[in-house]
Amino acid sequence: ETKRWTIHHDDMDQQAINDASGLLRNGWTVAFPTETVYGLGADATNEAAVSGIFRAKERPEDNPLIAHVATKQQLRRLTDEPSPVAEQLINAFMPGPITLVLPENGTCARNVTAGLSTIGVRIPDHPVAQALLEACDTPIAAPSANLSGKPSPTIAEHVWADLHGKIAGLVDAGPTGVGVESTVIDCTQDIPVILRPGGITKEQLETVCGTVMVDPALATTGEKPKAPGMKYTHYAPDVPMWLVDGSAAAIQAVIDRQHRHNKRVGVMAQTQMAARLKADNVIPLGSDLSEVAASIYDALRLFKYEDIDVILCETFPKTNIGQAVMNRLQKAASDYISP
Ligand code: TXA
Ligand code: MG
Repeated sequence: ETKRWTIHHDDMDQQAINDASGLLRNGWTVAFPTETVYGLGADATNEAAVSGIFRAKERPEDNPLIAHVATKQQLRRLTDEPSPVAEQLINAFMPGPITLVLPENGTCARNVTAGLSTIGVRIPDHPVAQALLEACDTPIAAPSANLSGKPSPTIAEHVWADLHGKIAGLVDAGPTGVGVESTVIDCTQDIPVILRPGGITKEQLETVCGTVMVDPALATTGEKPKAPGMKYTHYAPDVPMWLVDGSAAAIQAVIDRQHRHNKRVGVMAQTQMAARLKADNVIPLGSDLSEVAASIYDALRLFKYEDIDVILCETFPKTNIGQAVMNRLQKAASDYISP
């Protein structure tokens, strides 16, 4: 059975933190909230413990995990020489929704890095994650706490639905916040390269270190992505999902055409747009891009898939957090409709 604790930010339950960190230090898997999504943690220095993560999630073993720590000092123990640009990013954005890929130094178990010579490191900006990592006093490997192929969890119920009975514990501290995962950025070269867009935007990164590149595999389909996880089709919903460009009238025309073919249509759109659309199941995503980011994974889990034949989703500008939002939507979608 999976143990479950409920914690309120403003009233940190130290007993729950102690119980959860005790399980982690003894080699068990425990899910916990971060500011991006819930993570499934295990002691990153314990190879058997880390195997438990891959088993519970049914995750391919060639997909490396991120090592989470509480402080910059602990982070520096995982790599020998952070480059000047890595130092800039550490100082500007940590703790926060960013993961730096740095040369690894053998502190973590081999299955954390899936045999790579680099390691992804992250300091989450969430009081419960911070308290837990401090109490563990060891790096914690943690991918998103979903079954492989499912949307990342933004509330504890998502974790429970995917993993209860398969993990030792779940710390529930409510919704996560940012809603899309951390930005993964390769800092092993002079010019940093975004491998996965996320909570820290390209615009924010550029204000700190000038030129930032984007892994070409993010823009084209032919290239092999440098973040192994980016090659998998994530979050593929149970019915086809199409991204649809254009006005409410244009999107409604696509819905109406499906209705004429007796197809039932689910829709995801920003709240103002959603209010103008008539379909079989309309899920509003909030009124600005940050709210959209915080709600897309929940929306993908809210559809009653037995009641719809296709999902249509509005497109968003690829600026700021929109870049991460569109990256995730494009991974979920099978088609792009531009009237
Ligand atoms: O926000 C987040 O990053 C969440 C929370 C729990 O911290 N974690 C997360 O982990 O999203 P995961 O495992 O679902 O995604 C990690 C991504 C994968 O695409 C993986 O391939 C990439 O980071 N990655 C990890 N280590 C890497 C490395 N050494 N080199 C390149 N890519 C790496
Ligand atoms: Mg994931």
